[in-house]
Amino acid sequence: MQELIAAPRVAPSILSADFSRLGAQVEEVMDAGARVIHYDVMDGHFVPPITVGPLVMAAIADRVHAAGGALDVHLMIAAPERQIEEFARAGADSITFHAEATPHANRTLHAIRELGCLAGIAINPGTPVEAVAELRGCADIVLCMTVNPGWGGQAFIPSSPEKVERLLSIAGPARIEVDGGVDAETAGPIAAAGAHLFVAGSAIFGAPDPAAAYQEIAAAAGAA
Ligand code: DX5
Ligand code: ZN
Repeated sequence: MQELIAAPRVAPSILSADFSRLGAQVEEVMDAGARVIHYDVMDGHFVPPITVGPLVMAAIADRVHAAGGALDVHLMIAAPERQIEEFARAGADSITFHAEATPHANRTLHAIRELGCLAGIAINPGTPVEAVAELRGCADIVLCMTVNPGWGGQAFIPSSPEKVERLLSIAGPARIEVDGGVDAETAGPIAAAGAHLFVAGSAIFGAPDPAAAYQEIAAAAGAA
């Protein structure tokens, strides 16, 4: 996956996909050029909704990998350290957990790498960038939430590009991922701020033509 995210990438979030035909939706965006598929896990504790776990991920993993893609897992769950092994076994290529969800960020990042995945840490809009300052070198990905986690389709927080710039100076050389409210309009300013990985859910799967929407956002982000 490291090679896949060497250049900027748009990662479609299947949270907004039609789950009754999940495999087909994944293929649709991969045919349009997507290679990183974002997989949102919510537990009803860290955030109110409950979504999907390793079982559903395992069902699409072969299809994603066969097409040369990678699965980018975003854990919005309490005590993420208890679940990482299961997601790694189910086919995750990167696993990102929230700094707010565990007192053991350093240990958890190392554990994710030991499982053979890229390790990521996410911060909520209300969390200062300094929360990841001591983790430089331990994280491959730092995810800057550009909405409050829990739901797709929320409005992009306008101060986010400036936060991405500060995060990059604190967390580089980690790749900066942005998640929430990303579309063809917001992708440009966050790309200019230095983000590398652009998660987009409703702007892709909520569009009449997800493939065209993917390509439009990728062009706006200057992504591969
Ligand atoms: C929200 C999730 C996102 C979600 C983004 O908490 O982490 O990945 O799918 O959805 P949009 O792109 O619709 O804001
Ligand atoms: Zn996400």
